[in-house]
Amino acid sequence: MLNTEVLNIDPGCMDISLIKKAAGIILAGGLVAFPTETVYGLGANALDTSAIQGIFRAKGRPTDNPLIVHVSSVSQMKHVVSGVSETARKLIDTFWPGPLTLVLEKSGVVPPEVTAGLKTVAVRMPSHPVALSLIGIAGVPIAAPSANLSGKPSATNARHVIDDMLGKVHAIIDSGNCSVGLESTVLDITGETPVILRPGAITKEHLAEITSDVQTAGDTGEEPPRSPGMKHTHYTPNAKVIVIAGPPEKVAGRISKMSLDFAKAGKKVGILATEQTSRFYKDAVVINAGDRANPETIAFNLFSALREFDRLEVDVILAESVETQGLGHAIMNRIYRAAGYNIINV
Ligand code: TXA
Ligand code: MG
Repeated sequence: MLNTEVLNIDPGCMDISLIKKAAGIILAGGLVAFPTETVYGLGANALDTSAIQGIFRAKGRPTDNPLIVHVSSVSQMKHVVSGVSETARKLIDTFWPGPLTLVLEKSGVVPPEVTAGLKTVAVRMPSHPVALSLIGIAGVPIAAPSANLSGKPSATNARHVIDDMLGKVHAIIDSGNCSVGLESTVLDITGETPVILRPGAITKEHLAEITSDVQTAGDTGEEPPRSPGMKHTHYTPNAKVIVIAGPPEKVAGRISKMSLDFAKAGKKVGILATEQTSRFYKDAVVINAGDRANPETIAFNLFSALREFDRLEVDVILAESVETQGLGHAIMNRIYRAAGYNIINV
């Protein structure tokens, strides 16, 4: 057990002495959980092999699932990749800093433990001021997966990180909630056409404005996974999750009925509802995930909601589907995976 230090850093008025402290821990080979605009990351010096091994141990993460390398400048990015194509340059100009991870050919400085032996490396420049400042002050790229136990929903506030990582890391920076709430879009640009390996807040529609022929892979559960992380279970609460998909009124009707049936069978039921539907449900743990007209609100609340159902020890979670265009694609990708693709169409 490590003696985990919790560092409170207000992103609006950063205490640089605390950031220096966290950077010192990183440079000494330690593990620091830190906020990004997407989810909290579990960071270590990307160039330090034994620190990287510590990340995999702390999370219980399979070693064949590579990590994202976080940078605070383009020159730092150039150090970890073998070259920057025209496509990469355009994407970086448009979307960095922000929730877009690019998979590029790696350079020799990146240890194989980071990339799980792949010739490519995933790189991202987060926009969160605390993340940028931490990486900048440390002066090394920081490898970081999401700061949750492997297989669990990602952490979108420091409470979640503390629940999963207390005693396993040297420090946890608490900077409140992450503004996006879903992990970054992972885009592989090493092939002929860019491929979305994981959908996120930078959507296919956003990417299509910058680069043509964007493909999507790995989010259907049918094709073999191209991103190593896609084959592992993810976002799974303790309860069994069932997605009910279809027009919102029909979905609400079916969920009400199923909820009654489960309750009669002695099960504690959770319902992942939306602003538009939550008031219709009775006699269940109902969480309003957000407004269908503003999917950003659902992205922001989703992982908190899944963790809250666990805290309340529900046996089954009935989850409404939302429209899959735009950000809805990333939201449903996470919900489908939480449900292990257990979907009822109505
Ligand atoms: O928003 C995020 O991306 C957060 C924050 C902390 O930056 N990080 C995050 O990391 O979600 P993680 O480890 O939970 O997810 C990284 C994903 C995994 O699906 C992994 O398989 C994929 O990126 N990945 C990493 N390196 C890759 C590579 N070289 N080729 C293909 N996929 C890669
Ligand atoms: Mg993760």
